[in-house]
Amino acid sequence: MGENQANVATPENQLNTMSNIVILGAQWGDEGKGKLVDMLADRFDLIVRYQGGHNAGHTILIGDRKFVLRLVPSGILHPGKTAVIGNGLVIDPLALLEESEQLRAAGIDVENQLRISNRAHVILPTHRLVEKISEAIPGRVAIGTTLRGIGPTYEDKAGRRGIRMADLLDREYFGEAVRQVIADHVTRARAFGLNDVIDADEIVAKYSDAAEKLRPLVCDTAVLLKNAMDSGKNLLFEGAQGTMLDLDNGTYPFVTSSSACAGGASTGTGVPPTKISAVIGISKAYITRVGGGPFPTEALDDQGDLIRKRGHEFGSVTGRPRRCGWFDVPLLKYSAMLNGFESMVVTKLDVLDELKQIPVCVAYEVRGKVTTEMPATVRDLADAKPVWETMPGWQSSTEGISNWKKLPQAARDYVEFLEKHTGVEAGCISTGPERTQTVVREGSKFQAVTS
Ligand code: GDP
Ligand code: IMO
Ligand code: MG
Repeated sequence: MGENQANVATPENQLNTMSNIVILGAQWGDEGKGKLVDMLADRFDLIVRYQGGHNAGHTILIGDRKFVLRLVPSGILHPGKTAVIGNGLVIDPLALLEESEQLRAAGIDVENQLRISNRAHVILPTHRLVEKISEAIPGRVAIGTTLRGIGPTYEDKAGRRGIRMADLLDREYFGEAVRQVIADHVTRARAFGLNDVIDADEIVAKYSDAAEKLRPLVCDTAVLLKNAMDSGKNLLFEGAQGTMLDLDNGTYPFVTSSSACAGGASTGTGVPPTKISAVIGISKAYITRVGGGPFPTEALDDQGDLIRKRGHEFGSVTGRPRRCGWFDVPLLKYSAMLNGFESMVVTKLDVLDELKQIPVCVAYEVRGKVTTEMPATVRDLADAKPVWETMPGWQSSTEGISNWKKLPQAARDYVEFLEKHTGVEAGCISTGPERTQTVVREGSKFQAVTS
């Protein structure tokens, strides 16, 4: 074969050579992404976060050891794997150092396994201040954010006045640049009544110290990923938050400020979209949301309380009780469309074990009109009344079951009902927080792209 011919990608050899996949939240976050990424990490060489920051909390349970990762990709717990923090993230260097320390204490080889993009943006303490004030302005909608400074840092990025990791490492530039940004924040905060004294020198000193500790880990991660792919290595992209919290496509304005959808995996890492071979959506067998915003299937009764209790539905970052509700088909279908996933992982099936009946929202009725489409505005979504269908519960334990045939018939019927209505395969079902508590469906697309 001539040189030119060898470079021509045909559909066949593209499928054979590419296996970079995206794992992302299909709902409003906390779907169990951490567990799935950790479970699959063995089969990939690099695990890559592409957006968000330490607003994320990804829980991994290994025996009696529990890890809650915020910024560091979940694959870091596997020796020899490279965990990459991409350019699409916003990083609080002090939070990252704290997380790295915890990982080192647990025996993880952070020096060799973690790499951080020099183009990721830096969260300053005054970003948090601006956010706190903006969330408390009377008459203004409070989003119910995590107060980690995420939104204001992305605002500065879009406003082209942000500080990036490469700037943080530039000793001559950082001090002056950061003082200007801090001054901006203080002006805004003072206008809304802030009286706190802000010591810019202290911030510069603390951040400069953090910079030296992080310096060996910071590089051009787009180049790192390109070289890795060229040498035949596979990437697993780990989404944070969820599709309905995506800045563009979620339930705006009750969203986060980054691109949680599959497209973010490209813009947030510098890996071209043509290199991504599959997307897997993670969805709970029900649904939760933290913070404000409309939630058509929210269960405000004792059933919602039962799910919260059985599912330990309390925020892993803020400890806030998560709002709980029933599986929402229109939302899931919209999420599958936006991200292009044909296979989903249904997590926390075991949480529903005790229920006699399980309602599922199969459509919305918005002001007298039945639709399976997602309304664009929160006003319309707030008016959306679920059209319910009810499935019988199984009232027996599914905890830890790892074989499809061993699930109770009613549990299988429930999963198949979700598949039928969403048009998305449930290729994997999670029946507990541990790696092994998982059913992988034989012959599924999930199995094909992850093995
Ligand atoms: P993430 O943000 O998507 O990674 O999810 P979180 O870690 O915030 O929340 C998911 C929670 O559910 C964690 O405490 C997990 O340990 C737990 N979890 C994950 N999968 C299952 C499951 O199938 N069953 C049960 N009972 N818990 C699960
Ligand atoms: P993981 O990755 C659930 C929510 C917040 C708030 C909104 C905006 O663990 O699934 P922000 O601080 O991002 O500006 O808050 O987004 N939120 C999450 N909800 N899981 C998350 O992350 C979330 N990260 C942010 O509660 O409603
Ligand atoms: Mg979480």
